[in-house]
Amino acid sequence: MATKIKSVFFCQSCGYESSKWMGQCPGCREWNTFVEEAVKATPKSSSKTSGGIGGSAAGEYSKPMTLAEIVMNDEDRADTRIGELNRVLGGGLVRGSLILVGGDPGIGKSTLLLQVAGNLSKDKREILYISGEESLRQIKLRANRIGEFSDSLKFMCETNLSNIEEAIVRTKPEIIIIDSIQTMFNESVSSAPGSVSQVRESTAVLLRIAKSMNISVFIVGHVTKEGQVAGPRVLEHMVDTVLYFEGDRHASYRILRAVKNRFGSTNEIGVFEMQEKGLVEVANPSEFMLDGRPENASGSVVTCSVEGTRPILIEVQALVTHTNFGFPRRQANGTDYNRVNLLMAVLEKRIGLQLGDFDAYVNLAGGMKVAEPSLDLGICLAIISSFRNKPISDDVVAFGEVGLSGEVRSVSQAESRVQEAHKLGFKTCIVPKALESKLKSTCKGIVIIGVSSVADAMKVI
Ligand code: TYD
Ligand code: MG
Repeated sequence: MATKIKSVFFCQSCGYESSKWMGQCPGCREWNTFVEEAVKATPKSSSKTSGGIGGSAAGEYSKPMTLAEIVMNDEDRADTRIGELNRVLGGGLVRGSLILVGGDPGIGKSTLLLQVAGNLSKDKREILYISGEESLRQIKLRANRIGEFSDSLKFMCETNLSNIEEAIVRTKPEIIIIDSIQTMFNESVSSAPGSVSQVRESTAVLLRIAKSMNISVFIVGHVTKEGQVAGPRVLEHMVDTVLYFEGDRHASYRILRAVKNRFGSTNEIGVFEMQEKGLVEVANPSEFMLDGRPENASGSVVTCSVEGTRPILIEVQALVTHTNFGFPRRQANGTDYNRVNLLMAVLEKRIGLQLGDFDAYVNLAGGMKVAEPSLDLGICLAIISSFRNKPISDDVVAFGEVGLSGEVRSVSQAESRVQEAHKLGFKTCIVPKALESKLKSTCKGIVIIGVSSVADAMKVI
């Protein structure tokens, strides 16, 4: 069969396909991300490999089944012995699932997966760790720092997928780790490793292996801004679970967040700290986030966000200073910039805070990224406190969504937020008025103050 080579342009950030080069990607709005890649016009295997779970060969008849006919065993989840990771995965590692672990280079993906491999190998599970980035000696150096490993964990340096497939068929591991997908290549695709077509085809091969042999596969994907290699977003839709590692590379803590999970809830997070001997779980993130909080400083307020099922106390800091230029600067770290602008407009209009001549910087201490509206009240109070240069008592926690008329609206899971504050020794909680009576009856030992608007909250503090 003659195969015609044609070329297609792919966005390296989201995988958008186009026959012509474009400056801006219509899919993800990134600039300068299109790269030409040669693709075969009649890809013989792609309909088979990329067509979902690809369990049976083409032409083979798969029989429709009733729910009762589908067999399922209970012990399908493996315990990784890392509580934070188990929770993010929805209660352990599911047999035969594909998990993408994304994150900036150097954030700790290889370290985490090596630790997971080590833990799982202690339960005598056969594990194959395939690295395309580091030599076996480098892996050993890292492993020596982390701890002890059992012999059911094997390592391999390989980037050619057909060799990898052969090794898998021979050794029949239960779990495979691919570090990283951007270094892998498939001989049937002509473009370079790291390109969109390679990354996609390689993942399709791994998907077929995972589903047909019932192997769990961890895939490491580097997030890149420059777009020289395809980002993990290209393959988000192919895998079962997508986990992203967040956090400042220079700070010691890391947050593992599930953005997609076919086997559990998303928005669960796991908090880790990078130490000498690898990643260590942080059992109480609130304590960690509030560590080093300034005493009696204006512009600092503690608020509470709920990540998945877990409340986390966060310190919101605001700095409002006179602007030196005609045009005031606004900056938001860890929270949505537009949201901060909107809240400042509410403050100007509803309580007459003249912020027009002031620069404002809002920061979530500890480097957390939170998009939850329950932080609104905290952000408003921090801005007011910095503007007036009046510190807010440091045993107060405030949360609530702020609407455009300056009203404070109710938020979900208020009870667990108040309990978290109580647990960490806070004395007073400023909450939306609508929740006041309910919280007063359920949460004892902490003063609950309900407020109906930002102006109300201002009077209280
Ligand atoms: P790594 O897992 O190699 O990152 P990635 O695979 O995401 O690119 O981790 C990189 C950083 O972690 C590196 O800068 C060194 C640091 N590190 C520690 O601080 N302690 C340790 O025990 C290990 C193994 C790494
Ligand atoms: Mg790595």
